[in-house]
Amino acid sequence: MGCISWVHQLKKVKEFMNIKKEIEAFRNDMTKWRRDIHQHPELGFVEHRTSKIVAEKLEEFGLEVNTGLAKTGVVGTIRNGEGPSIGLRADLDALPLSELNEFEYKSVNEGRMHACGHDGHTTMLLGAAKYLAGTKQFKGTVHCIFQPAEEGGGGGDVMVKEGLFEQFPVDAVYGMHNMPGAPVGTIAGWAGPILASADSFELVVQGKGGHAAMPDHAIDPVVIGAQIVNSFQIIASRQTAPLDSVVVSTTRFNAGEAFNVIPDSVTIGGSVRTFKSEIREATERSLQKIAEGICMANGATCSFKYHKGYPATVNHSEQARLAMQAAGKVVGEENLIREPNPLMASEDFSYMLLAKPGCFVFIGNGTGEKGGCMVHNPHYDFNDEILPIGASYSASLVEQELAI
Ligand code: NI
Repeated sequence: MGCISWVHQLKKVKEFMNIKKEIEAFRNDMTKWRRDIHQHPELGFVEHRTSKIVAEKLEEFGLEVNTGLAKTGVVGTIRNGEGPSIGLRADLDALPLSELNEFEYKSVNEGRMHACGHDGHTTMLLGAAKYLAGTKQFKGTVHCIFQPAEEGGGGGDVMVKEGLFEQFPVDAVYGMHNMPGAPVGTIAGWAGPILASADSFELVVQGKGGHAAMPDHAIDPVVIGAQIVNSFQIIASRQTAPLDSVVVSTTRFNAGEAFNVIPDSVTIGGSVRTFKSEIREATERSLQKIAEGICMANGATCSFKYHKGYPATVNHSEQARLAMQAAGKVVGEENLIREPNPLMASEDFSYMLLAKPGCFVFIGNGTGEKGGCMVHNPHYDFNDEILPIGASYSASLVEQELAI
C-alpha cells in the first residue's frame, strides 16, 4: 500500500481531542505495555507470552477472563446488569520479519516483528478494558476479544468456529486497524466493503516436452501458459462490470531450465482480490474456464486449484453509522473520513462480520517520520500517541451503545 488518497480529503486535523481523562491518566502505562509487547513479538497461534500478559492484565482490571479459544485467544468480559452485549476485538500476532529499527524496545526475537501494529491494537483494547471495568458507565455486557493469528492463520475464523459467539454472545462486534499515512486524530469508516477478499490460485499446464528446434514434435506449455496469463486480464477488463472491483495478479510462472529444451509442464500461480462474493465466485469460475479452455485448444491438459483465503471485510450499515458517531465524539466530526475508499488488502475480522453485525475502522497512525512508515515494513512502528485515541473510541462506543 502506498499513498493513501483519502488523507487528502481531510481538513487540518484538530489539535484538541476528546480523550477520556481516565484513559489519558494511564497513557504512560499503555505506552509501556505496548513497547513490552513490541519487544517480544510472537507468531500466530503461539502468542503464549502475549496472551498470558493480556489475561493477567484483564484479571488485574477485574474482568472475567477466558483463555484457550483458538489456542492463544483471550476473552475478557465486563458485566454490568441487563442490557445489550458488545464485542471489541484486537489481534495479538506479529510477522515473520526481522526488525530494522534501533530503538531500545526493538524485537528481541530474531525474525519476528510487530510490523503491523497488532501490539498497539492489543494495548488500545487493554486500555479500553481497564477504563470500562473501572468506571462501568454502561448497562449490559462487554466482551474484549483478543484473537491470535490474524496474519494468514485465520485466528478470527478459528475463534468463530470454536464457538466464540455462542460462548460470548454479542449484538454487534467492532474492530480497528492503524493506518500509516493518515494523520493522528483521524478515523475512517463507512458502510459496505472496507477491505478485500484474498484468494490464491495455482494451475499446472501439462504439455509435452521436446527439442527447442523442433516445436512441432512438442506441446509447448510456455506458449500456452503465456496465453493463459494474458487472457486472465480479460476477467477484470471485459467480464466484470466497470464499477465492480477485481484484481487478478499472476505472480508465479515456473517453467524449464535449459535454453534448448521445451519443458514438459508449467506451473502458474497468483492472487485474486474482490469486494463482492458474487464477483469472487465468478472470477474463480472464469480463471478455471480460461485455463482449461486454452489448454484444450492447444492439446495440453490443465489441473486447476483455487484456494479461498479471507473473505472481504464488509461493514454493516447501521453499525458503521454508530461506530462513526462514537469516533466523532473522540476526534471531532471534521476528522472523520466517511467517504468509502476501501483497500485491496485483507483482514480476518471479516469472519466475525459474517457471523455478527459490526464495523471495522482505520485509525490514523500519523504521517512522515511519526507513524507514516507503512505496515509490514522492517522500519514500521506503531505510534504510541494514538493509544489513548483508540482506547477512547472503543470506550465511547460502549458507553453510546450500552447507554445507561
Ligand atoms: Ni494488521
